[in-house]
Amino acid sequence: MTSKPAKISVQGVTKTFALGRETFTALDDVCLDIAEHEFVTVVGPSGCGKSTLMNILAGLETPSRGRALVDGATVFGPGPERGVIFQQYALFPWLTVRQNVEFGLRTTGVPKAERRGRAEHFIELVGLERFADALPKTLSGGMRQRCAIARAYAVDPSILLMDEPFGALDALTRVKLQEQLLRTWSQDKRTVLFITHDVDEAVFLANRVIVMAARPGRIYDVIEVDPAIVRDEAFRLSPEFAALRNRVWHSVYHQEGRTASAAAGATAN
Ligand SMILES: Nc1ncnc2c1ncn2[C@@H]1O[C@H](COP(=O)(O)OP(=O)(O)OP(=O)(O)O)[C@@H](O)[C@H]1O
Ligand SMILES: [Mg+2]
Repeated sequence: MTSKPAKISVQGVTKTFALGRETFTALDDVCLDIAEHEFVTVVGPSGCGKSTLMNILAGLETPSRGRALVDGATVFGPGPERGVIFQQYALFPWLTVRQNVEFGLRTTGVPKAERRGRAEHFIELVGLERFADALPKTLSGGMRQRCAIARAYAVDPSILLMDEPFGALDALTRVKLQEQLLRTWSQDKRTVLFITHDVDEAVFLANRVIVMAARPGRIYDVIEVDPAIVRDEAFRLSPEFAALRNRVWHSVYHQEGRTASAAAGATAN
C-alpha cells in the first residue's frame, strides 16, 4: 500500500448524454485511482467511453455524477500539468510544426528564447527536424501525430493523457514511438493514462491494463503487469507477454455479466 494520495482519482463518475428524448449512459460509476508515475493503459470496444473518460480528466467534459481529481483537487477545466494527445490530430493547420510545438509554451509563459530551444529538442525527439517549417497539411498522418506528441511533451506536464495516439501509425513507427515514450517516461516520472485499441500495445506499455465494457461504459477487468519487467523485444516475444495478452484479449472479447470497478478503485503499488 502507498501512503501517497493518488495522482489521478476518478470517483464514481457517471456521464450521460441526451439522445433525443432518452439519456444515454456513456460512463457508469467509474472508479479508478492512478498513482504518481504509474503507466495505465485502457482498452475496450468502440463506444465504451474511453475518450469520454479522458475528456473528463482533461477538463473538457464534466461528469454527470461523481468527480475527477488531479493531485487531490477536483478537475474543473484544462491545466498545464495535463498534456493531452487526442485521438484525431489536433494541430493548428495555419501554424508550422515548430509554431505548433511552441504554441503550448507560449500559453504557459515560457520566454521566447527558451521556447525555441525546447521546441527544437522535442521536434528532434520525434524525428521531425527536417519538417520544422512545414505546415501540417504537407505531412503524413503519422508525422502529424508525432508533431502533436512533441507539442504535448514540450510543455513538460506531470500527466500525459493519450487517446489512441499511435492508432494511425504504421507498425514500425508505432513500435519506435512506444519505445521512445517508455524511455522518456522512465526518465521523467510522468503519470500516463494511455488509451488504445491494440491489446499488444496495452500490455507492452502498462503497469496496469484497464479493460472497459460498453453499454453502459464501465470498468470490466484490471490486469496488473509487473513494473520490474524490462520492456524490450525479448519481452514482446516472451511467454509471459503472450500469457498477459491472452488474458487481456479474453477479457475484451468475452465481456459478459460482471464488472470490476471495485478492483480498479484500489491504488496500485
Ligand atoms: N458529446 C456527445 N454527445 C452524445 N453522445 C456522446 C458524446 N460523446 C460521446 N458520446 C457517446 O458516448 C459513447 C462513448 O463514446 P466515446 O467516444 O467515449 O467512446 P470510445 O470508447 O472512445 O470509442 P472509440 O474506441 O470508438 O474511440 C458513445 O456511444 C458515443 O456515441
Ligand atoms: Mg475514443
